[in-house]
Amino acid sequence: MNILAVESSCDETSAAVVVGGRRVLSNVVASQIDLHARYGGVVPEIASRAHIEAINTVIAQALDASGLAPGDLSAVAVTNEPGLIGSLLIGVMAAKTLAWIYGRPLVGVNHIYAHAYAAALDAEGIEYPAAALICSGGHTALYHCRSPIDMTLLGSTIDDAAGEAYDKVASILKLPYPGGPAIDKAARRGDPSAVKLPRTLLHGQSLDFSFSGLKTAVLYHVMGTPGGRREPSTRPRRRRTATPQRPAGKTGIENFTPQEIDDLCASFQGAVVDVLRLKLRRAAELTGARTLVLGGGVAANSGLRAAAAELAASLGCTLRLPPMAYCVDNAAMIGGLAYHYLSAGVISDLDLEARATVRR
Ligand code: KG4
Ligand code: ZN
Repeated sequence: MNILAVESSCDETSAAVVVGGRRVLSNVVASQIDLHARYGGVVPEIASRAHIEAINTVIAQALDASGLAPGDLSAVAVTNEPGLIGSLLIGVMAAKTLAWIYGRPLVGVNHIYAHAYAAALDAEGIEYPAAALICSGGHTALYHCRSPIDMTLLGSTIDDAAGEAYDKVASILKLPYPGGPAIDKAARRGDPSAVKLPRTLLHGQSLDFSFSGLKTAVLYHVMGTPGGRREPSTRPRRRRTATPQRPAGKTGIENFTPQEIDDLCASFQGAVVDVLRLKLRRAAELTGARTLVLGGGVAANSGLRAAAAELAASLGCTLRLPPMAYCVDNAAMIGGLAYHYLSAGVISDLDLEARATVRR
């Protein structure tokens, strides 16, 4: 089965052609990062407009690069949930139109489920049951996966997504957008034990996440607590002798040395990874997972990848990590997962809705 897939849920316009659920013939991604960088985050209205401008070209390029003609397609797949509603609508309308013109079935796909499937692209199928940790700019969620299309949500963030926390902390530290890669790079030069930051685990055995307290702790470390002074770093004094004394009341990232910024990045990354690892362990143990799966932009993080590898080894599980191109948003994962819906006879009507959030 040859599936043409469209993805436009956030700030990447993408189209792909995937054969048999795993072999990617083409995967074209038009990123909007440059458009949003000056705002330090995705601006929904700008994203929707950029999708409109890019979508026809991106789809044409994906078909062209696949070497297939429309008549060779078995179906048209599209991300219809969750995401930015204006952005989703562009992809959903484009996919409906093509499905109608080509006379092929339409398959609506959940974006997060697709992230949990991305590790199977251009690779072996995933062995189930699997525990999938999906971390991106918009989502942080843990799933029990019995098959590519049989997923149970175990926990998700109650406030910021992990990638969002990276992007916001990068903005506090005046690092470039998107923040994840910049913090990841700085963290490799820093000392993760330099600054004590909170690990928010929530109640009992909760599999939910919360990252806004951690983000606020970084803000207070940089700017001082409201009504107070900047929290002193717990770094040993010896390494800070070259740091000029900060005048009382003067706070801000401008007063941090490059080493202090690297240390703060390493400490922040350590706190994020500790929480993600602990909850992924809980999920895997609870569900008897044979495989651990990572997905979403934050799955590109070097600290998280290393922690997941150690965890998988200690649990006796296989770890499936998508290559970078399939960690970030892409249509190939949508086309890959759609194959399993199509094989199971699950297709959508032409009145398929775009939904910003998923109804549980
Ligand atoms: O999956 P994705 O491309 O888009 C969404 O669905 O949100 O993920 C983008 C997110 C951004 O927040 C970015 O900062 C984060 O993934 N990211 C990373 C890394 N690379 C990208 N976060 C941590 N470490 C990285 N190396
Ligand atoms: Zn995503």
